[in-house]
Amino acid sequence: MSDIAAYGNPDNYIKYQNLRPDYGKAVSVALQLAKKYTKNKKITLADFCCGTGSNTKKLASVGKIEKAILIDVNRKFLETARKTLTLKNLELLHQDVLEVSLKKECDLILSIFAYHHMPDDKKELYLRQIESCLKKGGIVVLAEIYLEKNEILNYYTDLLKAIPKKSKGLKEFLEQTAISSDIEFKVSKKYAEKQILKKFEIIEEVKIWPKDKSEKGTFVQVLKLK
Ligand SMILES: C[S@@+](CC[C@H](N)C(=O)[O-])C[C@H]1O[C@@H](n2cnc3c(N)ncnc32)[C@H](O)[C@@H]1O
Repeated sequence: MSDIAAYGNPDNYIKYQNLRPDYGKAVSVALQLAKKYTKNKKITLADFCCGTGSNTKKLASVGKIEKAILIDVNRKFLETARKTLTLKNLELLHQDVLEVSLKKECDLILSIFAYHHMPDDKKELYLRQIESCLKKGGIVVLAEIYLEKNEILNYYTDLLKAIPKKSKGLKEFLEQTAISSDIEFKVSKKYAEKQILKKFEIIEEVKIWPKDKSEKGTFVQVLKLK
């Protein structure tokens, strides 16, 4: 289903992602911000492009989730989510997030490394999908890698160098991600924000990796509807 082999193997996917300084830190910052802005109240959340459901699972262990809607096109990842999540009110949707029809019921949308999987001409539709299910006063926690097309290879080369525990599988995963053309559509921060700021304001932002002040790399942003 993808030119990145680990997307066919949930265990490898989780193992490799968790070794990355950009992914691990982004997830923990994203979940801290989700908790901060939902103020410990009972929430309905949608996890867009949820993968194995690990982010909702972590949030459920520290927050109060009344209902969770998880959406992903990867059946194997959703099977892992089904086995590992114990929430009572859980909807697992094996669907394209761009086609799913949702009610305006969410206090929180998690978009963790998801927007860059939308082809560029579908990115605005993705944001409209988020808007369609966000309740008034709800928030979006977005973790994203912002890069110009010509910065992608260097980003992954530097990322691999920064990981002490390398394996052949991890190296292949990062190399395949860097050159993927069927599931990876990264854009610059400027490009994304031009779309985001039409409907949302960014109320908090944390640069995750690399640790510099540039506009390129991984960020976590909290969005609220204008
Ligand atoms: C980098 S993974 C992130 C998964 C998860 N959010 C995490 O933090 O581990 C991207 C996910 O997006 C899913 N995906 C890509 N395009 C999608 C689409 N159009 N609709 C639903 N899911 C999609 C992939 O199957 C994959 O699970």
